[in-house]
Amino acid sequence: MNAHLIGIGSAVPEAVLTNADLEKIVDTNSEWIETRAGIKERHKSGDDEWVSDLAIKASQRAIENAKISPGELDLVICATVTGDTTMPSIASVVQYYVKAKNAAAYDLGAACPGFIYGMVTADAFIRSRMFRKILVIGAETTTKVVDYTDRSTCVLFGDGAGAVVISASNDDRGIISSHMGGDGSLGNLLYLPGMRGRVPVTLEKDPIPFYVKMAGNDVFKHAVKAMADSAAKVLDLAGCTIGDVKYLIPHQANIRIIDATARRAGFPMEKVLVNIERYGNTSSATIPLAMDEAVRDGRIQKGDLLLAVSFGSGFSWGAILFGWG
Ligand code: UT7
Repeated sequence: MNAHLIGIGSAVPEAVLTNADLEKIVDTNSEWIETRAGIKERHKSGDDEWVSDLAIKASQRAIENAKISPGELDLVICATVTGDTTMPSIASVVQYYVKAKNAAAYDLGAACPGFIYGMVTADAFIRSRMFRKILVIGAETTTKVVDYTDRSTCVLFGDGAGAVVISASNDDRGIISSHMGGDGSLGNLLYLPGMRGRVPVTLEKDPIPFYVKMAGNDVFKHAVKAMADSAAKVLDLAGCTIGDVKYLIPHQANIRIIDATARRAGFPMEKVLVNIERYGNTSSATIPLAMDEAVRDGRIQKGDLLLAVSFGSGFSWGAILFGWG
């Protein structure tokens, strides 16, 4: 039994925050943000707009695109670290609103690679024949958890959601190979305190509550190596080469990280999907957002082989090789 991607959808808040807008809020300049990170603008949720709103919209579009009835879904997994509630899970909220009344639902907390981890989980459930149809979502409102006085983080992040429907099939396209890796000893280089406000590695109390904290330079170096290695591993596991892959879909955190990862992994930039300039870093949503755009504008066609790769807090990272449609 193989796991096939049969539908995709995405959603972003209507409001756009440009680099020029940020210049008015924090000590930064458009040129720095564009040249150092590759970002021109990002979408920002309003005060009354939450991650569940975006996850519901993206999921409805994915279900429609898959041409299934929501009652066919067995499981809803939502990868998020910015849920508007910790309980119930955002997946449970989605399950109710999309009318997936036969589905179990839970959230998956793995920061930026969360969407890939959700796909890997769905693949395992389908291969084990436990479930047949699974909705995997990556959804974040990161702009609600960045400190708009900290220019080293606030200019990078944006809000969005993407979702895919993954279905059991006897056909041998679909998810082919995957890899996940982690190093918890580096947790204090990128973290968002939880309700007890502790720093992960030392378990010290954090004096600044509930904002993303990041040692950007260190994250940068680890991200490039981990993503390039992970991409090589999934190709190796599948016995495939770069030439077999239509697009590399890397996590969109910084255009320089994307460039360096592609170079190290051996992918020419024309084979790399990039949309960071319009969305910034939407954490677990970057990959389904980029993929949905490319499916809708025809760059991705049925049967194309795709390689998604991501890196983030934990540290956690992973890659997945799969066919579209
Ligand atoms: O999604 C999870 C994974 N996250 C990532 O992968 C992010 C990884 N890191 C990065 O993308 C980059 O390290 C950053 C974009 C965060 C920073 O870029 P950088 O080239 O590593 O800059 P830097 O931190 O070395 O800072 C260079 C200079 C500093 O000024 P001085 O000390 O040289 O005078 C910063 O204060 O740039 C300054 N700077 C800024 N200037 C204008 C930092 N942020 C800004 C800003 N506007 N927003």
